[in-house]
Amino acid sequence: MNDMLNIALPKGRLGEKVYALFEAAGFECPSIKENNRKLIFENPDAGVRYFWVKPSDVSIYVERGAADIGVAGKDILLEYAPDVYELLDLGLGKCRMAVAAPKGFCDDVNRTLRVATKFSRIAREHYAHAGRDIDIIHLNGSIEIAPILGLSDVIVDIVETGTTLRENDLEVIETILPISARLISNKSSFKFKTEMIEKVSRRLAAQTEVSE
Ligand code: PRP
Repeated sequence: MNDMLNIALPKGRLGEKVYALFEAAGFECPSIKENNRKLIFENPDAGVRYFWVKPSDVSIYVERGAADIGVAGKDILLEYAPDVYELLDLGLGKCRMAVAAPKGFCDDVNRTLRVATKFSRIAREHYAHAGRDIDIIHLNGSIEIAPILGLSDVIVDIVETGTTLRENDLEVIETILPISARLISNKSSFKFKTEMIEKVSRRLAAQTEVSE
């Protein structure tokens, strides 16, 4: 396992764009494009082995060294705070973390605000900073339903096109921070495979400049 660079990619639409960037940077792995259910692909000539993993799990693989490097959203890095190096902003998967509420929502500051989210840490930090008393309702998906059913007052979630909010009569009331995909590295891999990891990072950076 040690001679090749092990790379965790986020499965799905973002992952395909991320792989395309690695490919353009010279780290191609043609077998990855074969239509099958395999999750591990390698190209010994290019010195790379790719794994498809659930986007929110990439940082776990990298933190524990099962992957040397990987690509994870800034949302995941802030929420789980993995002990990894963040090497590069790939400029892909751009979206924002926002507070949203039913149209016309008016915050009563004398009451505890009920916040539904998948991103409890980010929400907690945001409201601690604002000095607002909140009650977090941690959900795992379809967050937009919570205020509609009266489970929460607001949500803290990712907004990309805004379609999900619009179609559920919600609107952004506050943007917390911009999000994009980041190249991350396991700390000890970075020490032992410095040359290769820096080469990947440098070439990806050159590609992101080309596509800007
Ligand atoms: C994310 C997010 C929103 C949606 C935003 O959900 O939680 O629901 O995308 O995208 P939009 O602004 O382009 O509509 P995801 O697809 O990850 O599913 P989830 O319900 O499991 O969170």
